[in-house]
Amino acid sequence: MENKTKLLLASALIFIISVSFRQADEPALFTIPSNFPKPTYDFSKNPLTKEGIELGKTLFYDAALSKDNSISCGSCHQQSAGFTQHGHALSHGVGDHFTKRNSMPLANLAWGNSFGWDGGVHDLDLFAVSPITNPVEMDESLANVLEKLRYSSNYPQLFEKAFGTDEINTERFLKALSQFMLTMVSANSRYDKYMRYEGVELSPAEIQGMEIFKEKCSSCHSGQLFTDFKLRNNGLKLARNDDTGRFEVTQADEDKFKFKVPSLRNLTSTAPYMHDGRFTTLEEVLDHYASGVENSPTLDPILKQNGTLGIALTTDEKQKIITFLKTLDDDDFLNNNRFSESSGFSEFKPAKKDFFAEVVDLKTVSPQTKATLQQSLAAYLKIKNALVKKNTDLVAKETESFLAVLQKMDKTKLTPSQKDFFDKINEKLAFDGDHIIEGKPFYDHQSDHFGDFSKSFYLMMASFKPNKTTLYYYYCSNSAQNWVSDKANESNSALLNNKCGSVQMKTILPKL
Ligand code: HEC
Ligand code: HEC
Repeated sequence: MENKTKLLLASALIFIISVSFRQADEPALFTIPSNFPKPTYDFSKNPLTKEGIELGKTLFYDAALSKDNSISCGSCHQQSAGFTQHGHALSHGVGDHFTKRNSMPLANLAWGNSFGWDGGVHDLDLFAVSPITNPVEMDESLANVLEKLRYSSNYPQLFEKAFGTDEINTERFLKALSQFMLTMVSANSRYDKYMRYEGVELSPAEIQGMEIFKEKCSSCHSGQLFTDFKLRNNGLKLARNDDTGRFEVTQADEDKFKFKVPSLRNLTSTAPYMHDGRFTTLEEVLDHYASGVENSPTLDPILKQNGTLGIALTTDEKQKIITFLKTLDDDDFLNNNRFSESSGFSEFKPAKKDFFAEVVDLKTVSPQTKATLQQSLAAYLKIKNALVKKNTDLVAKETESFLAVLQKMDKTKLTPSQKDFFDKINEKLAFDGDHIIEGKPFYDHQSDHFGDFSKSFYLMMASFKPNKTTLYYYYCSNSAQNWVSDKANESNSALLNNKCGSVQMKTILPKL
């Protein structure tokens, strides 16, 4: 009975709060799930609007926020990977530099009270400054980003729609990003539906797992968000990169190696785990708690009770906890179009230049290399078509044939510097190719890696163009077009003719 009264009270509160965010005739922009507590974010200082969220989303997926226009927030926070960076223990940014830490999942940020693995930022509105200015992330200055936006063809209008005038300033920029991120609520897992009595039952093993979890894990991973938002040391062995966590913010010895207790939603999609991505499976995580916890002055007292290190867990208990954790996967969240990059590869436009014709024209390479290039181009076009059809099995299959063709490249006639270039590009293509294949169930994910793949591939094709000393590589972040040209000023006409939302990147490729 008492629970029922609580539930009733909670739903009344939620009704009131959700109504206050509702515009006339529009669906609510933000609703508090009935099994969640009250958010901590102060919405009154940044009221959500449809246009503000839309602007935030455009910014989130715009590579113009980085120095060479190559990395967007979405590059490291990919929806299909629970908004982490798929396949990366340490996330990587501009110029393929690796950051020190594993990209964090973005979900339910409205409930957070500190952000980053070390909880160093207390206001979500201020967080974006850190990735933008960090030299190994986006390596750009805020002033430059704002300049790029001011001179773009689309942003002044988007800011006007969101904020009433076309003024583009730091506060508006950051607030719009927050608006989008705040809408990323993950609360539709089987567990949530079970908690909200929405007709979902959990299996006996899942329920047992939940009970064991409550007893052994929920002192830190507590409540419906599965975190108490505190900074704690969970006994990880010292990592190579000497990351001292919270200590880096406070310089207080008692904060050494403390990291924010992360939420445990969508774990199936967010591997690898921990601040440095050291564990690739949940089995490894559970083994850590059962037998890998290392003692240190700041180790959380919960993990050294009665003089024993770690949490006692049998093999069966570990498996049941994992079974339970999987009930926190939220497919609605991972596939919801509201959070997806709108101009993705479903609208993929062909490369501006007809590379096929150019390859046919090549006179400088051996017939075998030329044949390989033609075959790989044909294979590449097949991947692209399969992506447009959203046939992910076919995408994987065509990618495999593409990589097989590349293996046949005759490198005997290349100069050492050419060979070096090709080895590097091939390595990159193989890396992205593997990720395309690996991401088979996720169309978004395959498309993401195909973007990187296209860049390398175009560079490779372009490098065969005879008699050119410099080649420019253009990246059109809004329409997903990439092309290579020998003209330095093509980006301007591209801006006008192709409605590229943001400034183009040029990578200069020395003549081989
Ligand atoms: C190069 C990869 C990279 C890029 C680009 C990037 N992030 Fe992150 N993001 C990370 C990493 C790594 C962390 C953890 C940072 C830390 O602990 O120091 C993180 C953490 C966060 C968090 C904190 C989440 C939490 O629960 O505490 C937010 C919010 C966030 N990023 C938003 C953004 C936004 C907005 C952008 C674009 C302006 C962006 N990120 C760009 C890698 C990236
Ligand atoms: C003493 C507090 C504490 C307890 C108890 C605890 N954890 Fe954690 N957990 C943490 C902290 C802190 C981190 C982040 C550590 C880091 O990355 O340096 C973490 C990280 C994790 C992660 C990685 C999540 C990610 O996104 O990378 C998983 C999974 C996890 N814990 C599961 C569990 C399970 C299952 C239990 C019970 C067997 C448990 N934890 C018990 C504090 C705790």
